Amino acid sequence: MSEKLWGGRFSKTTDEMINEFQASIAFDRRMYREDIAGSLAHSAMLAKVGILSEEDRAAIDKGLRDILGQIESGAFEFSVELEDIHMNIEKRLTDAIGDAGSRLHTARSRNDQVALDTHMFVRRSVVEVLGHIAELQHALVESAQANKDVIMPGYTHLQRAQPILFAHHLMAYFGMLTRDFERFQGVYARTDIMPLGAGALAGTTLPIDRAFVAQKLNFERIYTNSLDAVSDRDYILEFLSAASILMVHLSRLSEEIILWCSREFSFVELDDAHCTGSSMMPQKKNPDVSELVRGKTGRVVGHLMAMLTAVKGLPLAYNKDLQEDKEGLFDAIDTVNFSLAVYAQLIRGMKVRADVMRHAVEADFSNATDLADYLVRKGMPFRQAHSVSGQAVALCIERGIWLIDLPLTDYQKLSNLFAEDVYEAIRPETCVAGRNSYGGTSYEQVAMQLTAAEELMAEE
Ligand code: ARG
Repeated sequence: MSEKLWGGRFSKTTDEMINEFQASIAFDRRMYREDIAGSLAHSAMLAKVGILSEEDRAAIDKGLRDILGQIESGAFEFSVELEDIHMNIEKRLTDAIGDAGSRLHTARSRNDQVALDTHMFVRRSVVEVLGHIAELQHALVESAQANKDVIMPGYTHLQRAQPILFAHHLMAYFGMLTRDFERFQGVYARTDIMPLGAGALAGTTLPIDRAFVAQKLNFERIYTNSLDAVSDRDYILEFLSAASILMVHLSRLSEEIILWCSREFSFVELDDAHCTGSSMMPQKKNPDVSELVRGKTGRVVGHLMAMLTAVKGLPLAYNKDLQEDKEGLFDAIDTVNFSLAVYAQLIRGMKVRADVMRHAVEADFSNATDLADYLVRKGMPFRQAHSVSGQAVALCIERGIWLIDLPLTDYQKLSNLFAEDVYEAIRPETCVAGRNSYGGTSYEQVAMQLTAAEELMAEE
């Protein structure tokens, strides 16, 4: 007979290489707290329904708490032979307390046990992610507030398009993060379902009380179908999806920050403490954090693809393929949390070069739409105004000047609607202040966004 907890029907021990191949202890040990909490609730339930004596329950309780202490102090020795966190803990418990320990797994399978642990782990991780998202949102709002009046060129096709407020640009990311926050709240809600009691796949002949376990472990709902309970990895797919979308947002921000701190843009300067140098080129100061976050995005998206692919052809119920759910998930959790935390710091240390941004707006034609709108306000149809403004731009390019420098007599040759007030209409501040439509870039609209953001964060 094999020494394994499941060794009864085996006449040979497991091949050493196979042991190593199928073990998950190297990574699922991260769920030791969840595994112990789950076992404490399970044994309390078994005692409550009379399957376990009070004496055995107390011994299990003490034994599990001792193991928790050993793991936390680093004294616990994990064994590959025992495959995973579930059997490592159960075997140690049984070694320590004898028979009572071997009663713990009554009415339970590792299939519903691992599902329980992972649900609890994801729940806890979502709470961490939400905290980090909120922290980055705070940093964005602080920077937007501190640079409320800074004007920069807004871009389309990476060509200067119209003047906007820098705060407006930052608040666009705030909006993305708000949706990320909501998405993760959704992940929480659909993770908050209790699988234990499904047994291996079909439930159990023993008189368990699943509601009791759910209540002890603070679950909102219970899986109503045992096959679904042990096969479901939707919550992991959802976590990875929400994480991927979030990382894509951070990656877009990264790309912009990398551009902004290039000499060509020089819109921002990152704190020395957040950059690295070159081993060869003494002058270099590189935006590694942003580059790494941009790079790590691929990794998280990869984990989502790996998991979607792993489950796509799986028959019900448990299959060992499902053990592949954890490494990518854990890595995604770490990557998202680390990236968000680092980004909050980066934004807080980022200096904004208002003068350079302002110059980029002045030395440009990004006020050409405002010139057209000026004519529209004087009664000209927009298509015609667009053409007149375009002719003014062409004239300026020919003379090597900007719209603000073109003499009124030249404007009036293009249209008699032009008057002295045109120069006020195309100043950067006027262009920005004028875009006062709801959600626009005007000082007033951006102030409203900031107020709403502060209210939202007070709630979060
Ligand atoms: N280590 C396994 C996993 O992570 C636990 C469940 C194994 N169940 C089984 N019958 N082999 O999925």
